[in-house]
Amino acid sequence: MKTVVLYYSRTRKTALAAKTLAKGVEADEIEFIDLKDRMGALNYMIATIDALRENKTEIKPDSVDISDYGLVYIGTPTWGGKPAPAVISLIDRCDLQGKDVILFATMGSKGGESVIKRMREKIEARGGRMVNSFVITTSNKSSEEIKEDVESMVEAMDLKLYGI
Ligand SMILES: Cc1cc2nc3c(=O)[nH]c(=O)nc-3n(C[C@H](O)[C@H](O)[C@H](O)COP(=O)(O)O)c2cc1C
Repeated sequence: MKTVVLYYSRTRKTALAAKTLAKGVEADEIEFIDLKDRMGALNYMIATIDALRENKTEIKPDSVDISDYGLVYIGTPTWGGKPAPAVISLIDRCDLQGKDVILFATMGSKGGESVIKRMREKIEARGGRMVNSFVITTSNKSSEEIKEDVESMVEAMDLKLYGI
């Protein structure tokens, strides 16, 4: 089954997880950019508020055609226990009808499970079916450790089997 990994990443940790995952399960990857400036202390606060309120944001690309893919991974950082606004926005713009979906979240230390729960509600409302999910903790971890964690997850969860 053709597989794609869709993700947003502010400080490249989710990007590293997504790229490691895409390599591990032989998937294409599409990164979404948030066109709102999310860097700096003030923007960090605004980002948390936007996430808590589930405010939409402008993203690039603003839509993607995923009709070729049967299995779709969607990855997000955890912001205030919620998915990042770019991921809420991308879910709203994808036709997930009939797709198998595997969700993943990175987090500093807590809130990843509530992110998965909220993303699950969103993708199911759009006709997708969550077949699995996982959370990666990134706080105090080197890039190499994050990569190893994702590689272990691919093995432990038999993620390659979902794409057959
Ligand atoms: C605005 C904002 C809010 C965050 N809120 C949380 C949180 O509620 N819980 C948590 O464990 N980490 C939180 N984090 C940390 C990120 O989820 C974590 O560092 C993530 O791996 C970053 O991914 P990225 O590098 O792809 O942006 C937050 C980070 C930002 C920027």
